[in-house]
Amino acid sequence: MRLKDKTALITGSAQGIGKAIAKLFLSEGAKLFLCDLDAGLLETTAKELDPSGGRVAVSAGNVVKKEDAEAAVEKAVKTFGRVDILINNAGITKDNLLMRMSDEEWDAVLNVNLKGAFNFARACARPMMKQRWGRIINIASVVGQFGNAGQANYAASKGGLIAMTKAIAKELATRNVLCNAVAPGFIRTRMTENLPEEIKKFYLTAIPMGRFGEAEEIAKVCLFLASDDISYVTGQVIGVNGGFYM
Ligand SMILES: NC(=O)c1ccc[n+]([C@@H]2O[C@H](COP(=O)([O-])OP(=O)(O)OC[C@H]3O[C@@H](n4cnc5c(N)ncnc54)[C@H](O)[C@@H]3O)[C@@H](O)[C@H]2O)c1
Repeated sequence: MRLKDKTALITGSAQGIGKAIAKLFLSEGAKLFLCDLDAGLLETTAKELDPSGGRVAVSAGNVVKKEDAEAAVEKAVKTFGRVDILINNAGITKDNLLMRMSDEEWDAVLNVNLKGAFNFARACARPMMKQRWGRIINIASVVGQFGNAGQANYAASKGGLIAMTKAIAKELATRNVLCNAVAPGFIRTRMTENLPEEIKKFYLTAIPMGRFGEAEEIAKVCLFLASDDISYVTGQVIGVNGGFYM
């Protein structure tokens, strides 16, 4: 039980990578506070993970809204007494070529992927600093490390998230609040399932391990970054991409 007596708040956790992290953390003894825009799916996921109740609480809301983030963190502290681990996982894509990208597509992706993570990190900083123990884990992307045509907005949001990870790491280090990023490659979730077959084929040939990743493989790295094992690790970006980017 690597997360016994720990409470983790995970955004975008109704499905996909966030849900896989929730499942693993629960099996390692953590109490969970799950947040997502999709209230119905969030309830279903919470019931599935914790049928008897008591170990998983939820708050439906939009990470872009400062008041939703603050309310969620306040409720998490009220429910479980503390927030030890924050996983900034909520994210979206709205792909388009640069010349066709609308202001709305740019703003939506930057707001959810970057401002949303900022909102939750800011709201969690005080309780984590007070308790002199915290882990902030930002789910970035390989695209934020090496770019991708058709994803200027997404690449900027994830590159910004990596830069923000390092800034937060420097700011909170003396309080034992460690901030790191995980940069997944191509992971099989709703986000990637509808990509055209020729794009999927291209990625399969470009990934040295010759396969896509699973959400559970991201969760395992998050578990390491959430644990006491990383007592001297902060401001790092761990790629989980089958060798796609080194
Ligand atoms: N799947 C991949 O290949 C991949 C690769 C690199 C990075 N990532 C990143 O991993 C994270 C999770 O992706 P996923 O593949 O599980 O996606 P997903 O679409 O399966 O799940 C994302 C969840 O976030 C929620 N969400 C979206 N906007 C929100 C908002 N404004 N407020 C609150 N919740 C919101 C959605 O409702 C959904 O439940 C994202 O940040 C994504 O950018 C994914």
